[in-house]
Amino acid sequence: MKITKAIIPAAGLGTRVLPASKSVPKEMLNIVDKPAIQYIVEEAVAAGITDILVITNRGKGVIEDHFDHSFELEASLKDNPSKKKIYDDVLKASNLANMYYIRQKETKGLAHAISCARSFIGNEPFAILYGDDVIVSPEGKPVIGQLIDTYYKYGVGCVGVKEVPRKDVPKYCSLDVTPIDNNVMAVHNIIEKPTPEEIVSCYSILGRVVMPPEIFDLIEQTPPDKKSGEVYFTDSMLMLARQGKLNAVDFDGIRYDMGNKLGIMKANCEVALNHDEIGEDFKAYLKELVKTF
Ligand code: UTP
Repeated sequence: MKITKAIIPAAGLGTRVLPASKSVPKEMLNIVDKPAIQYIVEEAVAAGITDILVITNRGKGVIEDHFDHSFELEASLKDNPSKKKIYDDVLKASNLANMYYIRQKETKGLAHAISCARSFIGNEPFAILYGDDVIVSPEGKPVIGQLIDTYYKYGVGCVGVKEVPRKDVPKYCSLDVTPIDNNVMAVHNIIEKPTPEEIVSCYSILGRVVMPPEIFDLIEQTPPDKKSGEVYFTDSMLMLARQGKLNAVDFDGIRYDMGNKLGIMKANCEVALNHDEIGEDFKAYLKELVKTF
């Protein structure tokens, strides 16, 4: 079955980037000239996704506004030939995909957020793109497209992974994997936020997933974490792995974590360096700047 639906969970509190995320959702934080979530929607659309459900909560209404028409703005730009490019860019955001929104009424973790999408997804496989992970693939295929292809090939759930520096693994998760083919591996175990002794590999799940609809039943069976009360999505995916139905794809792409301050700065810096309009000037500026260090 063709995968045409995606979910973008964007209902987290974004505490690591406060106070920037106090009244602006972290998913709307800027990377050069577009909010982070637009890069994510564009990635999904480039992979053939047509319908996107964004999981939001109170205070995230600006996400809806961004992907809607802004008639006043459009009217003021439309007939001005010198603003043609700006007009096209503004219009693009509102024409990318069929956008839907639902609120996660309590912040009870990623698995709970995903469960809010059950009736939207129905009985088909679907993509999940975490709302604070921007992944660019300058030369190649969109990363969620790489996962979708792998899902078509093997017919089981699929997570996007990268090897992260060993010192950082305790912030993420550690996957027990065995190779299947090229960049595809079978997942046997997922250790969430491992201690250094518990690390079984440096492969961690980074922001992109393709799931069969059965995952919703597994989420229902997932107990909340005893300490935080949140339902962790890795616990639900672990059940899938234990059934031998989860693969990992070591994807080709560069991932920026918009949920932390350094990630935001790296994203802005690297995207600016490759930007058509400001790339060359920014490079010259950076070269001058580093001389002063
Ligand atoms: P994170 O755990 O990185 O987001 O979730 P957070 O809770 O906003 O982070 P901090 O720790 O407070 O800074 C990954 C993705 O899942 C979404 C987030 O919006 C983010 O895109 N999420 C998380 C939800 O939609 N609902 C939740 O209950 C938790």
